[in-house]
Amino acid sequence: MAHISYLDCTKCGDHLDAKTPQTVCPKDGGVLYARYDLDKLRNNYKKESLAGRTPTMWRYAEVLPGSKPVSLGEGFTPILPSRIFPNVYIKDEGLNPTASFKARGMSAAVTMAKAYGLKKLAAPSAGNAASALAAYAAAAGIEAHIFMPKDVPLANRVECQSYGAHVTLVNGLISDCARMVAERKEEEGWFDVSTLKEPFRVEGKKTMGYEVAEQLGWKLPQGIIYPTGGGVGLLGMWKAFEEMEKLGWIGSERPKMVCVQSAGCAPIVKAWDEGKAISEFWSNAATSAAGLRVPKAYGDYLILDILKKSGGVAVAATDAEIMDAVGEWARTEGIFAAPEGAAALVAYRKLRASGFFSPDDRVVLFNTGSGLKYLEVIEAHNHGAKTPGSKPPASRQIGGIIGPY
Ligand SMILES: Cc1ncc(COP(=O)(O)O)c(C=O)c1O
Ligand SMILES: [Zn+2]
Repeated sequence: MAHISYLDCTKCGDHLDAKTPQTVCPKDGGVLYARYDLDKLRNNYKKESLAGRTPTMWRYAEVLPGSKPVSLGEGFTPILPSRIFPNVYIKDEGLNPTASFKARGMSAAVTMAKAYGLKKLAAPSAGNAASALAAYAAAAGIEAHIFMPKDVPLANRVECQSYGAHVTLVNGLISDCARMVAERKEEEGWFDVSTLKEPFRVEGKKTMGYEVAEQLGWKLPQGIIYPTGGGVGLLGMWKAFEEMEKLGWIGSERPKMVCVQSAGCAPIVKAWDEGKAISEFWSNAATSAAGLRVPKAYGDYLILDILKKSGGVAVAATDAEIMDAVGEWARTEGIFAAPEGAAALVAYRKLRASGFFSPDDRVVLFNTGSGLKYLEVIEAHNHGAKTPGSKPPASRQIGGIIGPY
């Protein structure tokens, strides 16, 4: 099990001790990354060491924090070859506990919270992070205090309440929720597990990078398309590639990292198009892909840097395109994706059309969550759908029962 050597500020490079709970760099607010002694690990921790290990993200325990994982079986999700596009793979994160990739980050963060003896955790959330926090906190016997926009998908609210979390619905966006957590946390004794405001959610999410490498036979793909809100998965995967190179598991090759955002909230795409190193707050953010409704990502400087270093790009997809892609993936691949995940399909099509990716490029599309979390959103779209083939037959009245669709 890993020993964290130190926490490393991604802005100024200062080192902090991981023996006590840390948030962000006290000097400049930089995101903190956990660092391990990879030179030492390299001698004993080999690719071959993974054979026969648990099919969860904790198979990479040597490069994860904590010694007693709070686990619900997260990670090691299938990477499915597309039935439509040769050389395309869909990493189906909808099969995680609480039906999204957020389980990975919260498993790591709650594991460390428990190790530190923290009793009350708080987070603002666009929805799925809240469900994951609520579940892992319940498993760990820790209180969860959750602030979500009042119009989050119903599943997220019902899940959080069922797991026994304290839920506050906010008339605003995730940025308003974040402000409320920040204002109250000191007085209430909450530890803030907001995206990138503590060092361990990114550690959990980095396991997606380890899995892509392992599941593709230790050959990284040419491209990865990642639906980006706060961008933690993207940062995590990039960190994983650097770690794996130091461990001697892969070489210096890297995929082109692609961010896809919703046209109704696309601060990273705008900053990328304008050649900026940080993003601006996106006003009046609106999209059915709730997880992409993040007007300003805390780690925007890291996301934009990775896009540049990897030769990647940022792409926007409209809500109509995204919702059509949900239906298309379901009908053609048998995968019922979250709208955020389906945005990756929209981006892939656009990048094939523009020639950014060729048919020979191996590309992994991340379906970050399950469509089952968005039934009301998907049903509303299906009823109003204009695209041929995506509109289900009208409902019928049979003996007082409404159905079938
Ligand atoms: C299904 C889904 N996909 C993608 C995202 C964006 O994730 P990140 O904040 O890591 O960019 C979220 C965030 O809530 C989400 O719920
Ligand atoms: Zn710093």
